[in-house]
Amino acid sequence: MGWRQNTERRTDMTTSTLGIIGTGTVGAGVARRAVDAGLDVVLSNSRGPETLTGLVESLGSHARAATPAEVARATEVILAAVPFGVHESLSREELAGKIVIDPMNYVVTDAWRRPELDGDELTSSELVQRHLSGSKVVKAFHSIGSPQIAQLFRDKGAADRSALPISGDDAVAKKEVADLLDVLGFDAVDLGPLAESWRSEPGTPLYATPYVGAPTADLTPAEWVAWVQSAPGVPVSAAEVERLAAETVRGPAGFRW
Ligand SMILES: NC(=O)c1ccc[n+]([C@@H]2O[C@H](COP(=O)([O-])OP(=O)(O)OC[C@H]3O[C@@H](n4cnc5c(N)ncnc54)[C@H](OP(=O)(O)O)[C@@H]3O)[C@@H](O)[C@H]2O)c1
Repeated sequence: MGWRQNTERRTDMTTSTLGIIGTGTVGAGVARRAVDAGLDVVLSNSRGPETLTGLVESLGSHARAATPAEVARATEVILAAVPFGVHESLSREELAGKIVIDPMNYVVTDAWRRPELDGDELTSSELVQRHLSGSKVVKAFHSIGSPQIAQLFRDKGAADRSALPISGDDAVAKKEVADLLDVLGFDAVDLGPLAESWRSEPGTPLYATPYVGAPTADLTPAEWVAWVQSAPGVPVSAAEVERLAAETVRGPAGFRW
């Protein structure tokens, strides 16, 4: 398939389009980076295309709004940037045959627990793959904040280009997502199948902290999430991602409030 950018240099080629379901912090942030990198985006949320007018206008002529069903029909690679708690509302039928990028993190609350995750039997992305049984799920974009995506992208080969971890059970889908990351300005480090994606989940050294550094004060989880939104990005090399992933020891799953 491959990704083709909207550049004057490459007018002989057609444009590739990234589908996005969920246009909050992550969906809108990746959409902005994708449009700036020369891709088209089709955006959707739970409330309908008419609620996305402002975002589409701010992104310009290479963005349009749709329903999740229309996104699934119109695109082959779809970022599902919704809360993990609602992943079972993603349509298995509509997304069958598609590459679904999973940036979702298990947020542990008293009201919502998954015993398979609490017992470290499965990863959250394995649950997403079980639900989207006809799709090819690739975990990506889950370990970095949107502000850092906007700050840390670099041209291929730049000395301070950052790498992001990806995981998935389908090699072709992972290559497609790695190629997308490359277009967006990042290297990809393949951590293996979805069963190994715990190596980059919340609570591991690879999750978020390398891309922002540590805050100078003790913060509650809510304060930390807010702090990440304003923290300057720190480049993280592919070698560092590989080192952190290899050294990680599996602990309790999820982001704890
Ligand atoms: N925030 C971060 O920095 C960050 C970083 C890495 C990964 N993540 C993960 O990325 C995911 C998205 O996080 P976020 O911070 O972007 O969340 P968010 O700002 O709360 O946005 C969630 C989006 O999902 C949409 N949505 C909810 N239920 C939906 C459904 N059933 N169908 C279609 N769209 C639906 C919402 O649309 P409506 O408003 O219309 O309901 C909204 O656009 C989460 O799983 C999170 O754990 C977040």
